[in-house]
Amino acid sequence: MNMQTQHSADATTVEEGLARVEAQASEFTSDDATALAMENTLLTPRFYTTDFDALDSLDVTPVREDWDSLIERMVSDPNKGHFKKNEDWDHIDWDGMDPELKKEFIDFLVSSCTAEFSGCVLYKEMKRRGNNPDVTQLFQLMARDEARHAGFINDALREAGIAVNLGFLTKEKKYTYFRPKFIYYATYLSEKIGYARYITIYRHLEANPDQRFHPIFKWFKEWCNDEFSHGEAFALLMRTDPKLTQSFVNKLWIKFFLTAVYGTMWVRDHARPAFHDALGVDIDWYDQEVFRKTSIIARQVFPLELDIDHPRWLPTLRRLEAAFNDLDTAKAKGSFVGRITSSLRAGLAFASLYTIPSKKNEVPKSVRLEPAY
Ligand SMILES: [Fe+2]
Ligand SMILES: [Fe+2]
Repeated sequence: MNMQTQHSADATTVEEGLARVEAQASEFTSDDATALAMENTLLTPRFYTTDFDALDSLDVTPVREDWDSLIERMVSDPNKGHFKKNEDWDHIDWDGMDPELKKEFIDFLVSSCTAEFSGCVLYKEMKRRGNNPDVTQLFQLMARDEARHAGFINDALREAGIAVNLGFLTKEKKYTYFRPKFIYYATYLSEKIGYARYITIYRHLEANPDQRFHPIFKWFKEWCNDEFSHGEAFALLMRTDPKLTQSFVNKLWIKFFLTAVYGTMWVRDHARPAFHDALGVDIDWYDQEVFRKTSIIARQVFPLELDIDHPRWLPTLRRLEAAFNDLDTAKAKGSFVGRITSSLRAGLAFASLYTIPSKKNEVPKSVRLEPAY
C-alpha cells in the first residue's frame, strides 16, 4: 500500500480511519495541544456519553422514506478521499505568522479537532453498543466522517509541529452524561451550527480570497455538507417522537440548549480577535449571521426560535462575554471573590438571555432540507 491509500481521508470505516490517524500522529503528538484538548470548562468541547440502549430502541418507521434517502447518500460517500492535502494546499509559514494570530489559530484548530473527535467518539460508541441496524448504520457513517475531519485538522496542526493525541483523549478525557433527548438537541444544534459556521467562512473567503490565510478553509464547503447531513439525521431522529419537540417541558429544554449553544459560541469567538481580524470578519456580524442561518434551518424541527433581534439580545451577550473575561482574570489571579462575582454575573446574563421571549414556529410536514447557503 502506498502512503496515499493510508490516509484517514480514504478510510471507509471509523475504525480504519482512527487507526490511520493514530499512525500518522504518533510521532507528532504534543503535550500542550493535548492538554488544551483535555480542558473541561463551560466553554471547551466536551466528550459525551448517554443511554445507548434507549438510542438503540428508536424506530425510524415514521420517517422511513426520508431516512433511506439520507442513508443512501451517506453510503455513496461523495467526500471519500477529500479530507487530505493536495495541490490546492498552500505552504504556510508558521514561524513568520503573527504570534497572536498563531496562538488563536492553533487554539481554533485544537478546539475544532476536539469537537470533531468528540462526535466521532460518541457516534462510534453508539455504533458499537447498538443492535438496531438503522441506528448502528447511521452512527457508523457519521463516525467515519468525523474521524476524517479530526484527522485532517491534525494534518494541519502537524505542520505547526503539534498534534492532538486522540488515543489519549479517548481514554483520559472526562465524559459528560447526557440523557438521549439532550444528545439530540445538543448534537443536532452543533451539527447545524457547524454547517452554518463553515459555510459562512467559506462564502466570505470565496468573495475575499486574499484573506484566506490558511488553505484548510478551501475544504470547508464539502466539510459543511457532511455536517449538514449529520444534522439531518438528528432532525429525523427527533421526528420519530413528536413529544421530543412539542411537550411544554421539552420546549423549555430546547430554548435552554439554543441559548447555551449561541451564548458559548459568542464568548468563544470574541476571545479570538486576531483570528477573525486576519479573516477580515467582524465577529459581531459573523456570529449574528451564523445564528440567523442556524435558526432558519432549525425551523425544520424546533417549535421555537430565539429572537436574536430583540433589543436585549446583543447587550446581554456582551455582558456574558465580559463576565467570562473577568472570570478568566480572577482565575489567573487566584481571586476567590472575583470568581464568585463573575460567575454570578455570567449566570444572571444567561438568565436574562433565556427570558427573552422566543418566537413560535410551526414545524413543516416534511422535515428534510438541502444545504442552501
Ligand atoms: Fe465533523
Ligand atoms: Fe458532524
